[in-house]
Amino acid sequence: MNQVFNKDILQGKVAFVTGGGTGITGGVARAFAEHGARLAITSRKQENLDAMRSEVESFGGECFTAAADVRDYEAVEAAIAAAVEHYGQIDIVVNGAAGNFLCAADQLSANGFGTVVDIDTKGTFNVCRASFEALKASKGQILNISATLHYLATPMQIHVSAAKAGVDAITRNLSVEWGRHGIRVNGIAPGPIEDTEGMKRLLMPELREKMMRKIPVGRFGRIADIENAALFLASDAAGYINGVTLVVDGGSWLLGTSLM
Ligand code: HXC
Repeated sequence: MNQVFNKDILQGKVAFVTGGGTGITGGVARAFAEHGARLAITSRKQENLDAMRSEVESFGGECFTAAADVRDYEAVEAAIAAAVEHYGQIDIVVNGAAGNFLCAADQLSANGFGTVVDIDTKGTFNVCRASFEALKASKGQILNISATLHYLATPMQIHVSAAKAGVDAITRNLSVEWGRHGIRVNGIAPGPIEDTEGMKRLLMPELREKMMRKIPVGRFGRIADIENAALFLASDAAGYINGVTLVVDGGSWLLGTSLM
């Protein structure tokens, strides 16, 4: 368990986390539970949710699960309603569900492009929209997991770059529209995080060293780096932070990690 923050900083909060079973958002969900939050997690695969629930329960945390595809608004609405019924509130929403694969633009089908936009961008909107009333009631907050791919240009990632640019637009727009309801909306843009399934799948081993040389702090990120950023943004310490996408990448996007 990370010891940077007081272990009760999220005591009394309920966090609804999409993609909360695995990867970066699985880490964020677990870290929130370790710091006092009660969890509601959703993902397409019930087995991923069950694994996270066991992990959280093993240290005495609470974890409610509801399988849903974030592309399906009615399923999202039902999952959020079930979480509200279970806990009586939702205070923090984390949009982490995402899809990715490497593909050159001239090989990518319209459906391939659309599928990633549907999961990342429309999925983020769906979850924000469906949780609005609960967040308005709790004066809660939203954390959208983004990326840095679209700050410059990232070959083989046109679909994710477009999708995450849309996520950033959602973060900014909602921070303005929903700030007046007491809802803070922020994002986190992770750089290259090595202990993820996505990175194992996307980064060929021979390119690893080459990429490492372009990371100013001299190391790949870890899921714990994103957990710490999420804990900070979710805590009262960030009470005046709204509409920001916090880049957590060791400075890499400034040099561009594209290997072309
Ligand atoms: C080209 C591909 C493809 C590939 C799928 N497609 N994989 N095209 N190369 N490798 C195309 C298909 O041909 C199809 O188009 C369309 O995409 C939909 O594919 P389906 O398999 O039917 O979609 P679905 O089952 O909904 O799967 C969604 C997925 C999948 C995104 C395609 O990869 C997935 O669910 N992945 C698991 C989640 C994931 O990837 N998580 C990692 C997130 S990491 P056609 O035209 O044939 O019908 C992340 C980090 C971003 O997001 C930042 C990275 C640095």
